[in-house]
Amino acid sequence: MKYFFLSYLFVGAIIVSAFGLRGSKSELPPLEVFQDMDHQAKVKYQATSEFFADGRGARLPVKGTVPMGFEIPAKAAAKGGKPPRFGFTNGLGYYDTGKMGDFYGDGLPTEITGDPSVFNAGFLKRGEERYNINCAICHGVSGNGKGVTSKYGIMTAFNLQQPGSLDAANAGAYRADGAIFDVITNGKGLMGGYGGNITVRDRWAIVAYIRSLQLAAKEAGVTLQ
Ligand code: HEC
Repeated sequence: MKYFFLSYLFVGAIIVSAFGLRGSKSELPPLEVFQDMDHQAKVKYQATSEFFADGRGARLPVKGTVPMGFEIPAKAAAKGGKPPRFGFTNGLGYYDTGKMGDFYGDGLPTEITGDPSVFNAGFLKRGEERYNINCAICHGVSGNGKGVTSKYGIMTAFNLQQPGSLDAANAGAYRADGAIFDVITNGKGLMGGYGGNITVRDRWAIVAYIRSLQLAAKEAGVTLQ
């Protein structure tokens, strides 16, 4: 028994001498028993790689593909299509911000309505699909603000405000299209922004789809709540 305790102390002393007391600060790099993920085999940008025959680390995009973050052109370049447009925003105009000067604008921008390859029945379908993927969990499939998150009490459990109903009286009457676009881009209150996930064109498609949800509710004479 004595040796057991002694060996126990001995092992303890070895651990402390090798790793130090946890919590004590040191300027030395940390000791890694199992390799951390900061050390891993990877190709750094601009670096060469012997793995590929041409020796380049960075690969050229596969021919005919559209890089991530770009909107897929309606027509191939060979058939007169425009080059793919960056899908996320850097611009300052109405299309990219939903604002005209200091005010939110209303109506879809001409970048959408003026391009028949974008503004067609598929546009609203795209909006429906993107809405159901990104927004319905909180705002509900019908836009009544009662998505699954509210059903399972997630919003209330974390003491969060329930997502707003997107009913016309709620989100429409005082909200211009540009204002809804801005909520999607930057979030509002407790809602996070989706500007980094949803392309500009898809955000406008969602705005159009929200309008169609509001219209459908109005036609049916129901309030989304
Ligand atoms: C994680 C849950 C969640 C998701 C996902 C979400 N929202 Fe929201 N949304 C909220 C909450 C909560 C509010 C209320 C924010 C506040 O006022 O503090 C809100 C507010 C809004 C408003 C303002 C309503 C008003 O009357 O002021 C709009 C418009 C809106 N969301 C649209 C969207 C759209 C479009 C999407 C999908 C791209 C989306 N939201 C995704 C939770 C969410």
